[in-house]
Amino acid sequence: MVRTGSSGPTLIGMRIVLGVTGSIAAYKAVSLLRTLLREGAVVQVVMTPGATKFVAPLTFEVLSGHPVSTGVFEAHQEMKHLSLPEQADAIVIAPATANCLAKSALGLGDDLLSTMLLTSQCPVIIAPAMDGGMWMHPTVTEHVRTLRARGAIVVDPDEGLLASGKVGQGRLADEGTILAALQSALVPERDWHGHRVLISAGPTQEPIDPIRFISNRSSGKMGYALAEAAQARGAQVVLVSGPTALPVPQGIEIVSVATAEDMTKAMSLRLAWSTVVIMAAAVADFRPIQVASRKIKKQDQTDQTLALERTTDILAALSAQRTTQLLVGFAAETHDLIVHAKDKLIAKGLDLIVANDVTTAGAGFGSDQNAATLIDRQGTLTELPLMSKRAMAEAVLNKAQALLGVTASGQTSKPVAESVSTHRTAS
Ligand code: CTP
Repeated sequence: MVRTGSSGPTLIGMRIVLGVTGSIAAYKAVSLLRTLLREGAVVQVVMTPGATKFVAPLTFEVLSGHPVSTGVFEAHQEMKHLSLPEQADAIVIAPATANCLAKSALGLGDDLLSTMLLTSQCPVIIAPAMDGGMWMHPTVTEHVRTLRARGAIVVDPDEGLLASGKVGQGRLADEGTILAALQSALVPERDWHGHRVLISAGPTQEPIDPIRFISNRSSGKMGYALAEAAQARGAQVVLVSGPTALPVPQGIEIVSVATAEDMTKAMSLRLAWSTVVIMAAAVADFRPIQVASRKIKKQDQTDQTLALERTTDILAALSAQRTTQLLVGFAAETHDLIVHAKDKLIAKGLDLIVANDVTTAGAGFGSDQNAATLIDRQGTLTELPLMSKRAMAEAVLNKAQALLGVTASGQTSKPVAESVSTHRTAS
């Protein structure tokens, strides 16, 4: 919830975790804290043990009005690594050392701040500060790239005189820049305004008799995350959903379907309306030829054979009918991921495919996280490491937006009302 004040979005009531790590620039976090408080934020400071060598926790405690947390194992702060990021609207790490970047990129959790980053789902803004050419070191560059790919907003350090007396890039970015990054993370850019996005999600159910059906393990979480992200970025969204246990997202038109045939009709009907189509649904490829009107009894049979027929390939059908729409598909694979996904991209005439290895631990069906490779029609591969499905949705939208110029149909896909603004830079 961001309210707009006379000088742009303010942070009234926003819950910010300010992470401070062991850099000489730690003293600048005191001023940043005061600015955040002045903007109306409620700030909880988390310090690494190294940061406490530069500034006493008491300084932050007195100014923020909250005890400062440092360790994961403090008796009175049980489970803080879970509760703080859960309650936070954003995490700002300023200054962030090279060590902090490395731990975050690699997923190490040996203090409260790094452990919190492993459990957080909110925007993370990282403002590094370091000395002696460390910022330019290939390892640091690699970690920054990983963090950005995962959705973190890294605010580049400034050039100037460093603590060592050398001149170079490594000074903590100025407060205004960090604040602006935080504000834009909290007020999503409406760069999809004017687009009409048709998204399918969840499994389909193909009835065998009034009691039984053929289905799959899809939870619908990825499609719902895409719908929420597109809507937050200003798009009009219609979500065609197979049966899921997920709550109906606010402000999104939802069309509930059960079978592949229902989904085919619902998607085809809205194709002309849309500017972008994303098929995240796990559509059953086969359905029983005969649907028994009464429960099939086992009687004396020891074997039962179910005769199946192919369902419509919805994506292929939409691809044949589309005019200017950008078409995005998914590929759920257990082996030869890239080969199969590329084949599907070509066979179904897609602009972009999200290739999922459903055997990856912690990713895929039912999980809140996903890992994937994006493949566009030029054959360019973009690796998306394990991240929340919402962060992945943002990354898919970023890539789709970059492709919005000319679709595989050879025609320009334009937003309906106004042109799309510049790309988001952070994720
Ligand atoms: N899809 C579709 N209609 C179907 C089956 C799949 O529109 N009847 C879409 C899915 O929504 C997904 C893409 O096609 O975006 C690929 O789905 P996937 O299940 O990975 O592959 P299939 O095309 O079904 O091929 P296979 O089962 O042989 O892997």
